[in-house]
Amino acid sequence: MTSDAQSPLVTFVGADTGAWQIERMSVLAGEPIGEAKRLDIQRGVSGPVSCSWALRGAVSHVRYTTREESSNLNAVQPPLGRVEAVCGALIPIRKSAAWWALAQDERRAIYEERSHHTRIGLEYLPRIARKLHHSRDLGEPFDFLTWFEFAPEHAPAFNDLLVRLRDSEEWRYVDREIDIRVRLVG
Ligand code: HEM
Repeated sequence: MTSDAQSPLVTFVGADTGAWQIERMSVLAGEPIGEAKRLDIQRGVSGPVSCSWALRGAVSHVRYTTREESSNLNAVQPPLGRVEAVCGALIPIRKSAAWWALAQDERRAIYEERSHHTRIGLEYLPRIARKLHHSRDLGEPFDFLTWFEFAPEHAPAFNDLLVRLRDSEEWRYVDREIDIRVRLVG
């Protein structure tokens, strides 16, 4: 593997080795993926590895965030890699053809005006650190790879956040979702 800290490309690898131990995998919608013991997060262009699955995404620009929301997020969002944040969640998500058939303004209206994704999410910051990776344009099986880090005492809050988001209009367009919980083992 070549590792390049500056690259927008990230590969989440489910295998026998990796810094994160996979504690459980729940399929919320659609097809499952294979079992794996560990999760390894590789930056840059990865070479072939022996693994159960390798999911690729790229850090990209925001699509729906307004200037005001961006300022609000920047004021409170924590970085990844905090020492106390030993709990992680990788949640790969695919949205339906109906979602992608909508225009940008219609998607924004569902995402924020009607589902309040950013407004709800902001309530959980700075407890939860997050990173969104886009996969759709890479021809991957999921559209997004969402990654979260938090301290063990904030796991209940994270679960509460998930209940609220999954209950929203936006989530009616989610047709594949797997919730992979991991713990840092070094
Ligand atoms: C921790 C609090 C959270 C905050 C502050 C937050 C914030 C955001 C923001 C600002 C965006 C929009 C980026 C853009 O403008 O393109 C976004 C997108 C997204 N978030 Fe969250 N989020 C949070 C939690 C979550 C959770 C728990 C999930 C998954 C279960 C999730 C899944 C997604 C997905 C899939 C997108 C892409 C939506 C799309 O482009 O259609 N988010 N989030």
